[in-house]
Amino acid sequence: MKRIAIIPGDGIGVEVTREAVRVLEKVRNHFGVTLELVHFDWGAEKYLRENVTLPEGALEMFQRDFDAIFTGAFGDPRIQSNKHAIDILGGLRFGLDLYINLRPVRLLHNRFTPLKHGHRQNINFVVFRENTEGIYVNVGGNLKRGADQEVAIQEEINTRQGVERIIRAAFTYASKHGRKRVTLADKSNVLTYGHELWRRVFKIVAAEYPEIEACAQYIDAMAMLMVLDPGQYEVIVTNNMFGDILTDLGAALQGGLGVAASANLHPGRVSLFEPVHGSAPDKAGRGIANPIGAIASTAMMLDYLGYQDIARRVDIAIEAVCEAGEVTVDLGGKLSTEEAGAAICHRLTLG
Ligand code: IPM
Ligand code: MG
Repeated sequence: MKRIAIIPGDGIGVEVTREAVRVLEKVRNHFGVTLELVHFDWGAEKYLRENVTLPEGALEMFQRDFDAIFTGAFGDPRIQSNKHAIDILGGLRFGLDLYINLRPVRLLHNRFTPLKHGHRQNINFVVFRENTEGIYVNVGGNLKRGADQEVAIQEEINTRQGVERIIRAAFTYASKHGRKRVTLADKSNVLTYGHELWRRVFKIVAAEYPEIEACAQYIDAMAMLMVLDPGQYEVIVTNNMFGDILTDLGAALQGGLGVAASANLHPGRVSLFEPVHGSAPDKAGRGIANPIGAIASTAMMLDYLGYQDIARRVDIAIEAVCEAGEVTVDLGGKLSTEEAGAAICHRLTLG
């Protein structure tokens, strides 16, 4: 039995989570997997109503009572500071020490990519984004705030242990999944302390995996090469900020933010799964959001929970609806969010 926390969040997060839950319920009923789904109403409404973001004791509860967490998206135009999103999503990523942000970039159908030379054979890699340090640590401050002489400092933290564990995770993944090359993205030509550490540790860890080719690139070059020659990438490892930026570019290559999935992992511990897209307030409530990113994230969750065969079936069902054009408007289809989710569920039980 697996216990899964479901946190739909805000905007289209609510709509795509409904479809992800539909898939999980299908998995439960059709494949006889015992999943207990527990819903939480955390997000903008609760924050505005009760001034609560991530409730007290939440981290302990998840660690004690849950196997996985699924979230939709967080963000609301009424909360300019984005405090609730930072508290909930950042709180879970940091608080549960989910140091791996795994984001696959896999083209589901040739017609989805904006690259004229792009096809399914050359857009298929995974990004290992460091998820617990870097420039996301919220260390810094303002001096003379509001004055002409104002100083703003935002520190980037790179620890030896933090860098080593994400690099090791990338190599371990490559070795387990038959990937032949791991590419590091950094800016060690300018960030000569922090990113030099990444280069040094990368070399040391790479030496333990002689069968895997280790490449290091500067982030600016990678941004260019990811467009010109995405086929060279199999596994990318990088810091928190670069991973954030690169995975939006990666999402564009695979058909847009609507299809991009992600897992926030600490192997062996309760982990979090979410689509890469945000709450998209302009699209919310219109039934047009693409549920594929959310459903592909549930496939990653099922894989993590030990149901690899079922995860694979969900991925195959997603590929089948893409092939058949049973998709939402962002992918050139005509279906609503709900119809697109139902189409995937239908394929899932056929196979
Ligand atoms: C992401 C998002 C988040 C991030 C935001 C919403 C804090 O862009 O998951 O990629 O920067 O990590
Ligand atoms: Mg992002």
